[in-house]
Amino acid sequence: MQAEYRQRREALMSKIGNGTAIFRSAPMAVMHNDVEYVYRQDSDFFYLTGFNEPEAVAVLAPHHEEHQFILFVQPKDITKEVWTGYLTGVEAAKEMYGADEAYPINELDEQLPQYLLNADKIYYRFGRDKSFNETVLTHYQRLLRVYPKRGIGPTAIQDTCTILHGMRLVKSESELELMRKAADIAVEAHNTAREMTKPGIYEYEVQAEMEGIFRKHGALGPAYPSIVASGGNSCILHYIENNRQMDDGDLLLIDAGCSYNYYNSDITRTFPVSGKFTAEQKTLYELVLSAQKQAIAQVKPGNPYNLIHDTALRVLVEGMVELGILQGEVDKLIEEEKYKPYYMHRTGHWLGLDVHDVGVYQYGDDNPLILQPGQILTVEPGIYILPGAEPAEEQPKVDEKWMGIGIRIEDDVLVTPTGCEVLTAGVPKEVEDMER
Ligand code: GLY
Ligand code: MN
Ligand code: MN
Repeated sequence: MQAEYRQRREALMSKIGNGTAIFRSAPMAVMHNDVEYVYRQDSDFFYLTGFNEPEAVAVLAPHHEEHQFILFVQPKDITKEVWTGYLTGVEAAKEMYGADEAYPINELDEQLPQYLLNADKIYYRFGRDKSFNETVLTHYQRLLRVYPKRGIGPTAIQDTCTILHGMRLVKSESELELMRKAADIAVEAHNTAREMTKPGIYEYEVQAEMEGIFRKHGALGPAYPSIVASGGNSCILHYIENNRQMDDGDLLLIDAGCSYNYYNSDITRTFPVSGKFTAEQKTLYELVLSAQKQAIAQVKPGNPYNLIHDTALRVLVEGMVELGILQGEVDKLIEEEKYKPYYMHRTGHWLGLDVHDVGVYQYGDDNPLILQPGQILTVEPGIYILPGAEPAEEQPKVDEKWMGIGIRIEDDVLVTPTGCEVLTAGVPKEVEDMER
């Protein structure tokens, strides 16, 4: 893997010319008082280094005579390590992570200027760590002050996203392997969840079983808080309480995926708790399934990203008009967003090191991103008719029979040279497979 991290750094450096790029590790997050969450490195930092400790800074300085990749890390400290775990330390940061030079983090202010002095630009993404933002600004302003005398030095700070996030959008073979693993583990968890579900059990029992499977296979845990939403809860997009007892007649919507070596899966399935859909549940399920399949059929190189959402949306709106849930002409309903009370989110997102992964979706309104092999995205249309749902203006009142039905079907899809591959196809989604 070290060779691949190096390749990524070299690819980035080849694009920043005489700039210097600075990356800050993610901070430790506090759960309560002095208890911290399990550490999760910043995805950009991890992508370029594989280094998984807080209080670190990575610098890329392609124009520097001696050092192009510099790490600032916490030094070895046995007294501290006995409490909070192993630290790589300065020496090993060079050997294990391939840094040309490494320093203790407390020498940052002293050492950083030599890597900025002759750069024409600083590449840095202003982040949540305000004090580090200040540090970068302070160094930049100091150099700006002496710029007239030297006629050389950084005169701009540019976000790294336009370059780095374009790289992250297209997955390498080794990333794809990790994405497949994350997908396979989540597939097993979803299949187990469907088999165990019956009236009377609690949502958290299903959650526990699924998250147990994640850990059992070495995943770090859920990729995001698992959504196990039965009955009317299925209409709440980010329902995470997961504490309701399931009833005969409910649907169960499960949106859960895992994080494996930092790479994520994101799957949603919806099925009847009793093993049989009601007529209304089945009708809406078939509509969402059809929207999802037709949208997935549009995932191929050369197609614009927007086409996936547009395709799913049209199928959903046409279907809702046929069922009398919406009234009017399909194009107009879409243009005026009259469907929004029942379909309020987009049809997917990029997937990778972040669940809502980085990368642009379009370059302005008339210039959509064109799909290319190696990209991974979710396709996740849904319909949600809340109990007590209010229709959009000039739209029919919702018939009670639809109320409380929430359905989403979500798969993770890889763009291949000839079309696409559904990485999560191992979880069935046909009506007969969802029934018992
Ligand atoms: N579970 C988050 C999402 O589907 O986007
Ligand atoms: Mn998703
Ligand atoms: Mn999801």
